[in-house]
Amino acid sequence: MTIQVLALVGSLRSASVNGKLAEAAAALAPEGVEVTIYEGLADVPFYNEDLDVEGAVPAAAEALRDAAKAADALLLVTPEYNGTTPAVLNNAIDWLSRPYGAGAVKDLPAAVVSGSPSAYGAQWANADARKALGVAGAKVLEEASIAVGGRFQVFAETHPKDHEETAAELAGVLSALVGAVEPVNA
Ligand SMILES: Cc1cc2nc3c(=O)[nH]c(=O)nc-3n(C[C@H](O)[C@H](O)[C@H](O)COP(=O)(O)O)c2cc1C
Repeated sequence: MTIQVLALVGSLRSASVNGKLAEAAAALAPEGVEVTIYEGLADVPFYNEDLDVEGAVPAAAEALRDAAKAADALLLVTPEYNGTTPAVLNNAIDWLSRPYGAGAVKDLPAAVVSGSPSAYGAQWANADARKALGVAGAKVLEEASIAVGGRFQVFAETHPKDHEETAAELAGVLSALVGAVEPVNA
């Protein structure tokens, strides 16, 4: 069985360093683990209870929910915007949190990787993403979540997957996620 990890990236720009961190996680996934970067976040409308009607949920939101339901674990990879998680990611969490108590992330192991040019590595965004995921019902791996700071200049030359320290950290995150996935036939 392949363990499916769904990666949601909080930056939509094509040259996103957080996007590269997600690519690195995908490249470093061990045998038996597949990391898929979700490509449709920009198309998901702002959460609105008027739109969240059974049988009539907007296709882009439904597709996001389906992707999370099909996944064994969730990896959020996020920059920090104005001291918190970017709206695109909060919006995704909102859609994944409903119906209340039975959202698509309920009981899903989840870890957060955050990255910013500063030494803090977007740690406020990281903490806020963990908090929101936890409220949404995910099984948040607090200790396994990492903040990647002060390396963006290095990543301009070296892809994070080829950067030893970052690769080791990402491997640790993946390993913790895999360890938190319940065996199907336990
Ligand atoms: C709207 C906006 C707000 C930002 N606020 C912060 C911030 O609060 N803290 C921080 O470390 N960087 C902040 N930045 C800088 C981002 O860390 C930087 O743009 C980073 O490269 C974004 O990640 P990305 O490369 O994955 O797009 C902000 C950038 C934008 C566009």
